[in-house]
Amino acid sequence: MTRRLLVTSALPYANGAIHLGHLLEHIQTDIWVRFQRLRGHEVIYVCADDTHGAATMLKAEEAGVSPETLIESLRVAHAADFQGFLISHDNYYSTHSPENKALSESIYLALRERGLIFTRGVEQLFDPARGMFLADRFVKGNCPRCQSPDQYGDNCDACGATYDAMELGAPRSLLSGATPERRTSDHYFFDLPQYTDFLRGWHERGAVQPEVANKLTEWLDAGLKPWDISRDAPYFGFVIPGTEDKYFYVWLDAPIGYMASFANLLGQRGRSDEFGAWWDRDSTAEVHHFIGKDIVNFHALFWPAMLDGAGYRTPTRIHTHGFVTVDGTKMSKSRGTFINASTYLRHLKPEYLRYYFAAKLNGTVDDIDLNLEDFVARVNSDLVGKIVNIASRCAGFITRLCDGVLAPALHQPELWQRYRDAADSIAGCYERGDTARALREITALADLANQYIAEHAPWTLAKDPAQRDAVRAIATQGVELFRMLMLYLSPVLPGMARATEDFLAIPPLTWSDLDRPLLAHRINAFTPLIGRLEAEAVERMIADEREAHVDVSAPAAASAAPASSDVSAIEPFKPEIGIDDFARIDLRVARIVAASPVEGADKLLRLTLSLGDSERQVFAGIRSAYDPTALVGRLTVVVANLAPRKMRFGTSEGMVLAAGPGGRDIFLLSPDSGAEPGMVVR
Ligand code: MSP
Ligand code: ZN
Repeated sequence: MTRRLLVTSALPYANGAIHLGHLLEHIQTDIWVRFQRLRGHEVIYVCADDTHGAATMLKAEEAGVSPETLIESLRVAHAADFQGFLISHDNYYSTHSPENKALSESIYLALRERGLIFTRGVEQLFDPARGMFLADRFVKGNCPRCQSPDQYGDNCDACGATYDAMELGAPRSLLSGATPERRTSDHYFFDLPQYTDFLRGWHERGAVQPEVANKLTEWLDAGLKPWDISRDAPYFGFVIPGTEDKYFYVWLDAPIGYMASFANLLGQRGRSDEFGAWWDRDSTAEVHHFIGKDIVNFHALFWPAMLDGAGYRTPTRIHTHGFVTVDGTKMSKSRGTFINASTYLRHLKPEYLRYYFAAKLNGTVDDIDLNLEDFVARVNSDLVGKIVNIASRCAGFITRLCDGVLAPALHQPELWQRYRDAADSIAGCYERGDTARALREITALADLANQYIAEHAPWTLAKDPAQRDAVRAIATQGVELFRMLMLYLSPVLPGMARATEDFLAIPPLTWSDLDRPLLAHRINAFTPLIGRLEAEAVERMIADEREAHVDVSAPAAASAAPASSDVSAIEPFKPEIGIDDFARIDLRVARIVAASPVEGADKLLRLTLSLGDSERQVFAGIRSAYDPTALVGRLTVVVANLAPRKMRFGTSEGMVLAAGPGGRDIFLLSPDSGAEPGMVVR
């Protein structure tokens, strides 16, 4: 029976570049999608950028462009990154779309109609200078538990406490520096508790993995709370119908973005009338969402409840994965392991990573470690050494000795049958998302082929012209086993599968091609499908990434963007300032009289600066370029009238100016420039 499957990956935020974490998810989804297509099912795979929220608005403002311009440039960049990794989205759309607006409004109205929406006043911090309410990430103050300064409005880095932004001591707005006021405004709520029993039933019907079901049971037992779905103006998003200055919270319209991207695709294909067949309550199609473990609550609580409340079907299955780590630790910009898609593609082939992630993904929510040494070793030993090797050892004989034509019969039908018999087990692994096991089974088959070739040593027989038929029979068997392996691997290695089809001169592989060996068929000359993965190329990629992320300015510069680590990939220009603004900056020459590394901050140096008649301490993010001892005695330019800022390691009393692309190239003044400490810089 042909299944109809609508498949999604979570929508990446339109505020930074695509990185390894996104890639894990899209590679996992794409393997599943390609497997289902290979089996002959109808699959539609959609995604989009998640564009709304205060962060987008502020980031655009900072860059001096409209939010629409900002999000469109990111959407194009994201789609290109995914294409580079051979991700086969049918549509890569945006949540800022007419389809999404219409669907979000109609879903909201349906929920309201059903008595699932209510309003209630909410007291929050308000920035009087910016005229807006402050999301938790835009306010800092003293932790209410341990009093550590400089903590965000939701939780404390120092002691781990979680709290409400209103509890912060001495709060200040990160947008303006102003002290926020408390203000009350009306918020709209989705009455989630009404859905408690429904959700329990939905989870128990197998829509999520067992570990996820346990977590959900915990949440349900603890009691659900109504969900705040509105935000006050100014906000970048959709206005709530019937209001003028209330917007849907980004997480309301984000999952609806799945439907909207799908609706847009149907429109492009002239099939808009099919929407209901996929989304109505009685739909026989399946809906599969692939997500990371951090967003389970949105997909397994709010989303099915919203869908049901609005009269739609619920998802068939939520496939949840864990987080990517690199060499056992969280991805880190300063270590160069926060690897962006575009950086990777400048150095390495996409299929290496697809293969490696596939070898690690097992359908659980365990984190996935990209161990760089193991990455190189495994790709070279298994993918190149075991799989590709089979074709390169056999194909030449067919081309050189047999006029390019395969033998009419298999040399060892029993061996071929073992390959054929593995089909159901391998298919089951793909279906369950246990690609690690699928690859183990496929590699075990490859071992059999390599043993077979080694035993029959066609290269020895080829020396004797009388043995030509034997050589052809063995090489044909080898090429055919390679074809079977590449068919099994084609969801993971689509580029190599296409190259294999060209080499074998066959139409696109499908699962039913397992039923019949390829015999008495003319093939093309073999060209290597993929080369070895060089450890040096991996090192160059890491070095490249490390340099791209050095902050030239110390974190003394307050940033408007939330501190979440994956935000700052675009470095927008600041809005224009006048000469008067510039004149307010007191720039002075300073001599570095002491410099030392800062424990626990791998980019920072602690500098003691002499400004002629006074000394001060400044933290500067220039450790990648300078050995502290080499800095002593050198001159730099300092912003002398920057308000002192308390940092984790001490107070920074100014800021050092340096420029350059980062990494080792960050430039200070040279000591022989004739400048004297304390001099005003013009
Ligand atoms: N915009 C929301 C999703 C809305 S879906 C209706 C979002 N965006 S995100 O860009 O932060 O993350 C997108 C997906 O990437 C999420 O599923 C998230 O779990 C995944 N990953 C982001 N970083 C990750 C890792 N380091 N490792 C693995 N996946 C992680 O959340
Ligand atoms: Zn604390």
